[in-house]
Amino acid sequence: MRKALVAGNWKMNGTINDVRELASKISQTEQDKVDIMVAPSFVYLHSVSETLSKTNIFLAGQDCSEFDQGAFTGETCADMLVDLGCTHVIVGHSERRQFFGDSDSRVAAKARKAEIKGLCPIVCVGETLEERDRGRTIEVIERQLCAVFKVIENKFVIAYEPVWAIGTGKSATPEMAQEVHENIRQCAAVHSHVDGLDLRILYGGSVKPDNADELFSMPDIDGGLIGGASLDSESFLKICRSAAELVN
Ligand code: PGA
Repeated sequence: MRKALVAGNWKMNGTINDVRELASKISQTEQDKVDIMVAPSFVYLHSVSETLSKTNIFLAGQDCSEFDQGAFTGETCADMLVDLGCTHVIVGHSERRQFFGDSDSRVAAKARKAEIKGLCPIVCVGETLEERDRGRTIEVIERQLCAVFKVIENKFVIAYEPVWAIGTGKSATPEMAQEVHENIRQCAAVHSHVDGLDLRILYGGSVKPDNADELFSMPDIDGGLIGGASLDSESFLKICRSAAELVN
């Protein structure tokens, strides 16, 4: 039985007051059927960690370095995230792959470093519109997954995020997402050490309160990685309630 997970990826948004207020509103919910997580910007992790200290909401970094520590200006290592109370870290988000050169092998190195340091990696995979149009979706996703499966040894979460659906308002249809999620589960069963049936696979890409129900009703969608809609506490909590009711 997989417990639902809904993670808010706040990206590079907000002021310190905004994120404190958002965290505090989110923390007022009581949900035992869904794990809730937020990933604020690095500079606000400490503050959000304090706001969430007496709650069971998980804290995640939006990325981490593949290196331990040292002369890597601008980077944040996994130990620092642990220090600030993070339990999870997002790696391989398509914005990192697209704008900051995160290759499959770097994403794998980041996921491995995260797990060595005690963080659970949330590994993002997804195809571009061009790749989908050429019928290469499954091939691309398997390539991204296998790079990580080769090195990872502990628990991880996968987030399927079609690049063309992120921040565009164009979500994948539930059937499209389900097809990819089913493939991810099979790929994990064959190529990773985890039992595919235990693996939590989140969908991300324009999830909103009005499409969450239909996405979360799909058998292989175990929750969501939410960008834009996670910046509004009401929308985010509605999505969390949908997951609590409909996942599994
Ligand atoms: P979105 O972003 O919900 O704004 O599409 C999702 C993500 O990038 O994780």
